[in-house]
Amino acid sequence: MYSIITGTGSYLPEKILTNRDLEAMVDTSDEWIRTRTGISQRHVAAEGQMASDLALNASLKAIEAAKIENNEIDLIILATTTPDMIFPSTACILQEKLGIKDCPAFDVQAVCSGFVYALATADMFIRAGKCRNALIVGTEIYSNIVDWNDRTTCVLFGDGAGAVVLSQNDQPGILSSHLHANGDYSKVLSAPGNISRGEIQGNPYVSMEGNTVFKFAVTVLEEVAREAITENNLKISDIDWLIPHQANIRIIKSTAKKLGIPMDKVVATVDKHGNTSAASIPLALDIAVRDGRIQPNQLVLLEGVGGGFTWGAILLRWGNS
Ligand code: UT7
Repeated sequence: MYSIITGTGSYLPEKILTNRDLEAMVDTSDEWIRTRTGISQRHVAAEGQMASDLALNASLKAIEAAKIENNEIDLIILATTTPDMIFPSTACILQEKLGIKDCPAFDVQAVCSGFVYALATADMFIRAGKCRNALIVGTEIYSNIVDWNDRTTCVLFGDGAGAVVLSQNDQPGILSSHLHANGDYSKVLSAPGNISRGEIQGNPYVSMEGNTVFKFAVTVLEEVAREAITENNLKISDIDWLIPHQANIRIIKSTAKKLGIPMDKVVATVDKHGNTSAASIPLALDIAVRDGRIQPNQLVLLEGVGGGFTWGAILLRWGNS
């Protein structure tokens, strides 16, 4: 038994914040942001809009594309770093918004690798015969956890959501998944505040040693891509599409160069979305599916890296269901 993606969906909040807008907020420039990151704009959620609201919009599109009804979903795994609340999980809140009465629903916290972790987990549920149609969502409202006075982080992130339906099939689909973590790096990229006795203790905003993250990301994104390709006895040139986590166009280009994958086989959305953490991969996937770039039987490699550090890859054959 295998799993295959049968529908994708995404959602970006209406409000767009351009680099020019940021120039009026912090000591930065459009030129610095574009040349150092490749980002020209990002979307920002409206006041009161929650991660589950973004997730709902993306999920409805994915369920529609999969041509199933909401109540045929029998597993929800939601990846987020910015949940609606401490508990219940945003997956349960989404379940209620979708009107799904009984199925397991839980959040995965692996920061920017969250979607890869969630999709790998859903694949294992399906292979074990525990569900038929899983909904996997990455949804983030980083605008709630960046310090809008800190130019080293606030220019990088954006809000959005992406979702897929993963269904049982007798053909793969997902060929393999590869997950890693190394907690030695937990302080390099974090939002270290916590709530104690009803009050926020410490710094609740994203804090990052940018250079360390950059170097680690280009190293492991190459390694984990090679791991996936080797395990499947494939060659780099067999890959039709690389969809990496969208943090910085320089990380994406340098990973593609190290792997020897030309940029016309790489899906890049970071210029328009910024870094949407757990949402970035499903957002990019949905865009490339809907604009017709990704075609049946093509090999697609998804890979992410983020706080923890966590990183991982999923290799799949597209849509031969
Ligand atoms: O999703 C996973 C998490 N995040 C990432 O993957 C991000 C990984 N890191 C990066 O993308 C890059 O390291 C950054 C984009 C964050 C920074 O780029 P960089 O080329 O590593 O720049 P830097 O941190 O070495 O800073 C260069 C200069 C510094 O000034 P001095 O010390 O040379 O005078 C910074 O203060 O740029 C300055 N700077 C800025 N200037 C204008 C930092 N942020 C800004 C800014 N506008 N927004």
